[in-house]
Parts: sequence; structure tokens; C-alpha cells
Amino acid sequence: MAEIAYYQDTFVDLDAKVVPIQERAHQFGDGIYEVIRVYDGRPFMLDEHLQRLEMSADAIELDLPYTTEEIKDICLDGLEKSELLEAEIYLQISRGIHARQHFYPDSPCAVFAMTVKQAKIIPEEKRQNGVNVMTLEDERWKNCYIKSLNLLPNVMAKQKAKRNRCEEAIFVEEGKVKEGSSSNLFAVKNGTLYTYPALKGILHGITRRVVLDLAKKLPMSVEEAPFTLDFLKNADEVFITSTSMDIMPVRQVDDTVLESERPYTAKLIEQFHKLM
Ligand code: PDD
Repeated sequence: MAEIAYYQDTFVDLDAKVVPIQERAHQFGDGIYEVIRVYDGRPFMLDEHLQRLEMSADAIELDLPYTTEEIKDICLDGLEKSELLEAEIYLQISRGIHARQHFYPDSPCAVFAMTVKQAKIIPEEKRQNGVNVMTLEDERWKNCYIKSLNLLPNVMAKQKAKRNRCEEAIFVEEGKVKEGSSSNLFAVKNGTLYTYPALKGILHGITRRVVLDLAKKLPMSVEEAPFTLDFLKNADEVFITSTSMDIMPVRQVDDTVLESERPYTAKLIEQFHKLM
């Protein structure tokens, strides 16, 4: 079993020094990415991730160097080579290698990169206890629906959260709670599930979509609408979602400790784990 990488058209060692200085991904953050979880050897929601990749590519006017089918084959090939069963596939497409200039290169030269790595397994105890989150002002740009490589504000927010012994930083804009630095956020109040609407201001999480669909089937009423920080702190249950964590209950928001009984979150986790 081995963690593995792919750059341009070849499989390479994970630590191979392959990226030239003038690659636009690290000079400008000029590219897009996806993270896909593999459960028991099978990529979860692969088609949905590749659809979002296409959407992000369109949004930044980047021509993908491969078709979706080809990307799928590279993912599956890499997965097979790695022999990993619980894995995370990371895809990154940049606008390529070119003499440093802000405007796009004249001819398309996008560069495809991928890693297949062992997934972090979340201890059951952590999921039982829930995690602490802190809120901070959203200082990102207005197109957070694009899964862009420009993650500096997210990285800075996550570091601030870590310094404050929190698992996640939750972005708030004009008093409305949006999403985490690498997750979407949900609140349950009186049996209704609330989350920020999938407009331009948040990433349209794949896990978010799965959770909303599962909630409707429970059945639970669902409101995709902005809500305030005060509403969040008075919620019956709060959780965050992402490809890496699936559904992670929140124990504390800033200084507010939430209820430790989380019947709706527990049901959603149960349904989600059945699905994967
Ligand atoms: N992060 N919001 C943001 C800002 C994210 O970066 C992510 C994912 C999510 C959740 O989306 P999904 O359910 O599709 O993973 C929401 C990934 C995992 C990352 O950057 O590592």
C-alpha cells in the first residue's frame, strides 16, 4: 500500500519535486481543486465532485485538460495503485506553467495534479463529544462557491481557531452565519434543519447536499436560509459537514456550550454512515 501522486500525465512519488516555479497554482493560486473521500475502496459521490470541478473550471474560464471520464479513470487508476481502502483523493487543476504575468496564457496549458492518501479516521469518541468552534468575520471574496486554490483567508481562520483550541472557524458576514473555513454549518431548532443558502457566498458542499437530502427523507423540515449568530448559539443542535469529517457535532460555539443531547444529528449520522 502506498500513498501516490500524479502530475501532468504520470504517476510520481508523493514527495517528487515536480512543480516548476512558474506554475500558476502557487504563483497566483490560479486554479481549482476537489477532495473526494474513498470508503472501503469506493470513491463517495465521485460524479458530484467532478460536476463541481467542471462548474469551478467554467467559473474561472479554465479549460480542463481531460474529460470528466478521463479524470474518473485517473482517480480509479491511482486508487488501485495505492491499494488504499480508506483514502482521500485530492485533485488540483491549475492554469499551467507560464512566464509570470497576471493575464491568462494565450494557449490553454492547464496542469492536472492528484494525490491519493490515507484518510484520517475520526475517533468515535470525538464524534460523540463534538467539537468547539469559534466565529469570526468573513474576510474572503464574494465567489466562495468556486472551489478555488486561493485559501489564504481560510488557512488564517483555521489557524486562529486552532490557537483558540477550536476545531473550526465559522465565518459570519453582516451578522449572518455562513460556513466554516473548510466545512458547511447546520443548526437544528425545534426539529427544523437550517443552513445558509447555496448562493455565491459559500461552497456548495457535497456533504451538505447529501445531508439535506437525508434530512428530507427522515423526514425533517429543511430551511436553506441565513440565520444570526444569536440563533446559532440558541440552537438545539449544531453540526459541521465536509468530505473529510462527514457530520461532526458541535459542542461549543465561542463561549456558549450547547445541549449534549443531539437526537437529530445522531439520526443524520446514522443515515449518512449507512449510505457510505
Ligand atoms: N473542504 N466549505 C468550505 C469552505 C470547504 O473548503 C469545504 C470542503 C466545505 C465542505 O464541502 P464538501 O462537503 O464538498 O467537502 C465547505 C475540503 C474538504 C478541503 O478543503 O479540504
